[in-house]
Amino acid sequence: MSKTGISSQRIKEMTTRESLIFAQARPKCRKASEDADKVLMWGVPMAWQAGIEGPFSLFIESGKGNRVTDIDGHEYLDFSMGVYASLSHAHPDYVTPMKDAMDKGIQHQTPSCIAIDVANELNKKLGNFRWNFSLNGTDANRWAIRLARHITKRPKVLIPNFAYHGTVEEVQVVHDDKGEISYYESDVGTPPAIAGERTRIVEYNDLEGLERELAHGDVAVVMMEPAMTNIGLALPEPGYLEGVRKLTRKYGSLWLIDETHTMWSGPAGLTGRWGLEPDIWTAGKTIGGGMPAGVYGFREEYAEQISEQLKHSGEGLVGISGTFSGGMLSLTGIYHNLTKMFTEENFNRIEELGARATDGLATVISEFELPWHAGPQLGARVTYHFTPEPCRSMTYYVNEVHDDDLTYLMNLYMLNRGVMCMAFNNCWLVSPSATDHDIDIAVGVFRNCCKELLD
Ligand SMILES: Cc1ncc(COP(=O)(O)O)c(C=O)c1O
Repeated sequence: MSKTGISSQRIKEMTTRESLIFAQARPKCRKASEDADKVLMWGVPMAWQAGIEGPFSLFIESGKGNRVTDIDGHEYLDFSMGVYASLSHAHPDYVTPMKDAMDKGIQHQTPSCIAIDVANELNKKLGNFRWNFSLNGTDANRWAIRLARHITKRPKVLIPNFAYHGTVEEVQVVHDDKGEISYYESDVGTPPAIAGERTRIVEYNDLEGLERELAHGDVAVVMMEPAMTNIGLALPEPGYLEGVRKLTRKYGSLWLIDETHTMWSGPAGLTGRWGLEPDIWTAGKTIGGGMPAGVYGFREEYAEQISEQLKHSGEGLVGISGTFSGGMLSLTGIYHNLTKMFTEENFNRIEELGARATDGLATVISEFELPWHAGPQLGARVTYHFTPEPCRSMTYYVNEVHDDDLTYLMNLYMLNRGVMCMAFNNCWLVSPSATDHDIDIAVGVFRNCCKELLD
């Protein structure tokens, strides 16, 4: 019996059975996967999609609201929402203006006024920043780090252990067993440079560790999610984020909050909800409502320093920005996402649905006396984890309670019964388009899965 309370033999048996069920019901997906294998690396357009849901890929025909349909004609309640892409698929309030925008020509050499509207909308939610744009969260972070280095003239970025901020080299490192900074085992094309040359790592929720590392005086920027969401879910302990703010000011480092995931926690993310005061704010994924987009904003005082120091030569600046970053279509996506989708009304509904789902999962976990917990709920993000209590850092989740085989099986089981969970982090994302009944269906399937796991 593993720490999760489920025998590995049972996981194997059920995975074999569920893989067969999946395959038998999806001849067109199988054929598409075979075709894809011949022309796409790993048989998928994006490396992270390989092998995440079933013995071959599930090819999607369409999505509407909180539902998606595969090419074999199966409909799913979608609790993955394109991995944080949009609150509701193909929502007319969002899609119609996007179509209109395309009629104006997608990309032009000089700016469109929508950029000013987007910046104003972001500032209405977040305070006084000056903004620039990318096509994803990775580049928003990468360029923010570069600019932070430029301002502070310091080399390093500090992150919590097991943070994920995209494929930015400096932050794709982790503490090994000895507490040394090292690359992930699955890291691709590991650079010959010494891991950690440009990075410091501390445990999340550890202010003493943070102060010790900042005291070296070489940290340009402390980069973190306000609540850690990759792998497990760790909320800040009382006083932690205030402590980070104080310490970064004391040691002259900038504080960057990355809300690529946590933006799903409210109309202005956790920064708005908790009244946080970062120097730099970044987001990707959902910020564009489905359009590829990322944003990075610097507080005015720093933005002014940047503008003063980095005068434009007319040839642009080397090291930041790209041809399509901040293009009209991305900006139109951000604008209509922020104004039509990221509303109080939608998030009130999300809170209700999320609470219903979290209560449902907690009830099932206690019914079967599993050593797991559900929650804490964070806006649209509903989670359960294979540990009795929430953890204060990701390191504990990774070392003690992570079980990829069990997570994979549970997601496959749900998928075979019409519920698509997020493939990662034991997480469901609740769309405001969902109904109470949709939540009850998903919880019911989760219950049946738990029951069978214990048979
Ligand atoms: C917190 C965080 N920041 C940044 C990123 C990178 O975003 P993207 O995949 O859009 O580059 C991710 C991706 O999962 C993320 O979780």
